[in-house]
Amino acid sequence: MLTRAPIDSASMRILSVVGARPQFVKLAPIANAMQGEAEHLIAHTGQHYDHNMSDVFFAELGIPKPDFNLGIGSGRHGEQTGAMLAGLEKVISEVAPDWVLVYGDTNSTLAAALAAVKLHVPVAHLEAGLRSFNRRMPEEHNRVLTDHAADLLLAPTRIAMEHLAAEGLAKRSILVGDVMTDVLYQVRDRVAGTPLRLGAAVEPGQYYIATIHRPDNTDDPDRLRAIIDGIAKVGKPVVLLAHPRLRDLAQRHGIPLDVGSIVVSEPVGYPELVNAVAHSAGVITDSGGLQKEAFLLRVPCTTIRPETEWVETVEIGWNVLVDKDFGELTATVERPRPAETDAAPYGTGQAAETVVRALLERA
Ligand code: UD1
Repeated sequence: MLTRAPIDSASMRILSVVGARPQFVKLAPIANAMQGEAEHLIAHTGQHYDHNMSDVFFAELGIPKPDFNLGIGSGRHGEQTGAMLAGLEKVISEVAPDWVLVYGDTNSTLAAALAAVKLHVPVAHLEAGLRSFNRRMPEEHNRVLTDHAADLLLAPTRIAMEHLAAEGLAKRSILVGDVMTDVLYQVRDRVAGTPLRLGAAVEPGQYYIATIHRPDNTDDPDRLRAIIDGIAKVGKPVVLLAHPRLRDLAQRHGIPLDVGSIVVSEPVGYPELVNAVAHSAGVITDSGGLQKEAFLLRVPCTTIRPETEWVETVEIGWNVLVDKDFGELTATVERPRPAETDAAPYGTGQAAETVVRALLERA
């Protein structure tokens, strides 16, 4: 199927495959670091398609327009992943890249890794080795399967390297640092000193930011109701940046979101998010990335999950997990600020350059 002859590293061709919101954030520093180093093409599966879940990230983070957009959209896991697999097989065959670079742990990640290995195209997995050890999470299967399929495992942390070694993958693994830290620091510096831009009528330092979207939290009506009731009791306004999945399921279950302290808002772009978190008193979330962003901005985080992949945030004291007794959530959210720290388990913001170098060295 592959028609292009191998080329030297000076003109290496790398295809990044993305599809969901957190992947656009990770793509931004990579696309930047690729400039002048490699021929970089981007395929968007279309897993996320709303303007404020997709286009706004490309525009605000200066990411080039995707070369391919499969427009797959939402669907059941198998249906969605299968459609991506079929679409990506055509794209990878046409592009014949030297590397397919896949990001994180979404259905787009797994589909791209599978499509590439079946065409014997080398695959590199960015954010390899993260584990929640929770097999109820679709992301856990996506990560494990992608790591075992990939040729090069680009790990963000030492703990991720240990997980890969424990699974017999040490030889294919390298520690590169965390690219989300690169982009977070760049955007933090860009928005530093700017006033609070959140549309909601809240005062700096006098509100919390919340996001809830994981199936384990949204799909069971009793659990979702308990989480919303818990958040509603917090003593300051809580701006809930409502993912479309949360809105849909809350409506379907008859659970109003606009209750008590909660101020419902649309999801926001990345600079707005960084600005909103930096000015907040704390974060309440079940997102992976946001736990880490809160830590890097030194904002206390409360995570509505039984476990986290970003264990360093908990160990250093800036993140507390809450998985039940949501009636007591307020005490955790309003806990005293933890001891200041200069720990940097996620690197110093140069991971993307390390990733690009690693790919170029391994033609
Ligand atoms: C996906 C990822 C998750 C990641 C999250 C970030 C998987 C298995 N999950 O979850 O790891 O943390 O993205 O947001 O890949 N929808 C829209 N508009 C959109 C996108 C989604 O309305 O642009 C709605 C649809 O009703 C859809 C639902 O959200 O069915 C869920 O979207 P989906 O992409 O399947 O998963 P996420 O929950 O976003």
